[in-house]
Amino acid sequence: MLFWRVKPLDAILATAEKKALHRSLGPIQLTMLGIGAIIGTGIFVLTAEAAQKAGPGMMFSFIIAGFVCAVAALCYSELSSMVPVSGSAYTYTYAVMGELLAWMVGWALILEYAVAASAVSVGWSGYFVGLLSSSLDIVVPPALASGPYAGGVVNLPALLIALLVTWLLMIGTKESARFNAVLVAVKVTALTLFIALTIPMMKGVNFDPFVPNGWGSVGVVGAAASIFFAYVGFDAVSTAAEETRNPQRNVPIGLIASLGICTVFYLLVSAGAIGSLGAQPVRGLDGEMLMPGTVALADRCAALTALGTEPLVCSREALAHVLRSVGYEQIGNLIGLAAFLALPSVVLMMLFGQTRIFFVMARDGLLPEKLASIHPRWKTPHVVTAITGFFVALTAAFLPVGKLADISNSGTLFAFFMVALSVMILRRTDPTRHRPFRTPAVWIVAPLAVVGCVGLYVSLPSDAMLVLPVWGCLGLLIYFLYGYRKSHVARGLTEVHEDDPDAPPQPVPPMPDAPTPGYKQA
Ligand code: ALA
Repeated sequence: MLFWRVKPLDAILATAEKKALHRSLGPIQLTMLGIGAIIGTGIFVLTAEAAQKAGPGMMFSFIIAGFVCAVAALCYSELSSMVPVSGSAYTYTYAVMGELLAWMVGWALILEYAVAASAVSVGWSGYFVGLLSSSLDIVVPPALASGPYAGGVVNLPALLIALLVTWLLMIGTKESARFNAVLVAVKVTALTLFIALTIPMMKGVNFDPFVPNGWGSVGVVGAAASIFFAYVGFDAVSTAAEETRNPQRNVPIGLIASLGICTVFYLLVSAGAIGSLGAQPVRGLDGEMLMPGTVALADRCAALTALGTEPLVCSREALAHVLRSVGYEQIGNLIGLAAFLALPSVVLMMLFGQTRIFFVMARDGLLPEKLASIHPRWKTPHVVTAITGFFVALTAAFLPVGKLADISNSGTLFAFFMVALSVMILRRTDPTRHRPFRTPAVWIVAPLAVVGCVGLYVSLPSDAMLVLPVWGCLGLLIYFLYGYRKSHVARGLTEVHEDDPDAPPQPVPPMPDAPTPGYKQA
């Protein structure tokens, strides 16, 4: 029982009750929040990488990844309607499977959000460099436009945008609902325009062969594991539960609506891209498969581009490239402009989400509260934001977008897996608790989510797969060196208010494995 420190749901809910976060978000704003966090580098950039693995079969990849997210979202919805508090999967796991696993989930969520912020920064960089060259004839030297994986030295634009967003977050910039709505409109308009122009140009021949690399982990399912990134972010809706009016009803609506809308867009966009320009993988000189993000593929692409044919899979600004290639030069630039404007807000949301998770973990005593201290003037957790931003910028500077997305996916899949398990366990251990939203056919949906998450995880490239256990071991070390002793649950303390981390913790009844309860006990 020592590591099985469960934080009772009632204690979590009581804390939420005491909170004074303003409940202002309704179902439409929540859906907008979800779409704002979901649409980003995945569809604007990684479409090229998915095509390199799956060819036209990437349409199936979008369906597979979307399906896994949908069943996971149904599980999320049940938990988030029962436990409408900050912290998302971390909090649910704390209530169901105890502190150690909750810590591991929170630790994996850091991987999800922080590495996703890096990936989106790199995605933005591709559009920025392309826009400079096509609109203003300014060429960023290749050495400064990508990391060593593509023959460059450092991806300077990615580094700078990550630092800029970090600074904005540090001085207290939050995306207002209105600003988010404007950017969602920009993204949705860009994708709608793309669909409207490309679908009428579809040619059947471009869909043949449909699955050039088969269905395995270097084909359709492998592409699904990578393109899963395009859906990452919908859980941002559940992290906003404490700021939502009638969360029991609105959070599930927000989750499912945002995911549904994005899936439809993704399918139409990929059909348009494949049908109008073609999306066959580029092979090596001997016909061998070249993996995305490798020097071999970068070299081959450079050779093809020098010959005047840049295939979709070689582009760092996939959607703009498709439109330019099929004769819509200016509209392609406009799509580039839309990505240029909208992607930084996805970086901001991911970084913000990361600091939120960090905060909840610090408020539970699992991370040092000093690290999450609030700046007196900016009123933001400047220390943790700066540290995170530094690492986000560093990885963005040197790693390829696809690799970063895959790493982020590994953390996300772990969190989704735990959420699906939690739903099932809670149905057994606490069957009578009021569930404003019940996952339909839970004994089919939740196991499907579990199997889907495991299936996608094992289809990731092996290096991305390895990052999760390595990151997990580091997490375990930190937990046993710090959180295990400092945990508020273990010490019989409730969490402090996240907006006021200096407020003293309040005593609560002791947990079964807690030492003598008491305020100020070390
Ligand atoms: N889903 C988000 C994106 O594609 C993270 O950029």
